[in-house]
Amino acid sequence: MTNQSLSVRDAIIQRRSIKAYNGQPVEREELLTILEDAVWAPNHQLREPWRFVVACGKELFDLYEVLKEFAIPKWKDLTAEDLEKQMKKFTTPGGYVFVIVPEDIRQKERLEDYAAASMLIQNVQLLAWDKGIGSCWKTPGFLDNPKFREALGVQSGERIISMLQLGYYDEMPKAAKRTSVDKLITIFGESK
Ligand SMILES: Cc1cc2nc3c(=O)[nH]c(=O)nc-3n(C[C@H](O)[C@H](O)[C@H](O)COP(=O)(O)O)c2cc1C
Repeated sequence: MTNQSLSVRDAIIQRRSIKAYNGQPVEREELLTILEDAVWAPNHQLREPWRFVVACGKELFDLYEVLKEFAIPKWKDLTAEDLEKQMKKFTTPGGYVFVIVPEDIRQKERLEDYAAASMLIQNVQLLAWDKGIGSCWKTPGFLDNPKFREALGVQSGERIISMLQLGYYDEMPKAAKRTSVDKLITIFGESK
């Protein structure tokens, strides 16, 4: 058993997407343990439709070079100081997990695989939260850029569905409001 401190309910309702990190590194072993547990996500026919590109140690610096090029289109015209400022949202997380999913040519399977990988990502986010590590699922447009894909070793027939940033944070964001389920539920057989 791991030292889980939050109930499932508390992890679900207390988790917040963290978008401002304090720069503290995430230990590789910690990140790999989270992934090891997260792969228990349900997935149809046990296709396990995922693989990961992880960066959390010294390789982060190589990743920044790649991100700079794709995330900051005019980086060549910026002063070093402005570039550093703009890169902050990429350089302050303590780790990255890019989640790569096969693009099955059959629509049903493709949707199932995306759904399964999304459950895995939620697992990662909850397991990380339980360890005091914040995270945010990010989907910047450059994830589909052929050159960015190439830099990550993504093959044709695969898609990067998430740039998951993880790390420690100083400020807890306010909860993003959710619609009460009263407004979303129709009791079967009753008209709305
Ligand atoms: C599929 C998906 C894509 C997302 N993409 C982004 C993104 O590109 N940038 C971002 O800041 N947040 C992104 N988010 C995070 C959401 O904005 C966040 O979950 C939402 O604001 C609710 O906040 P909470 O997670 O703290 O409740 C994404 C979340 C999901 C599930």
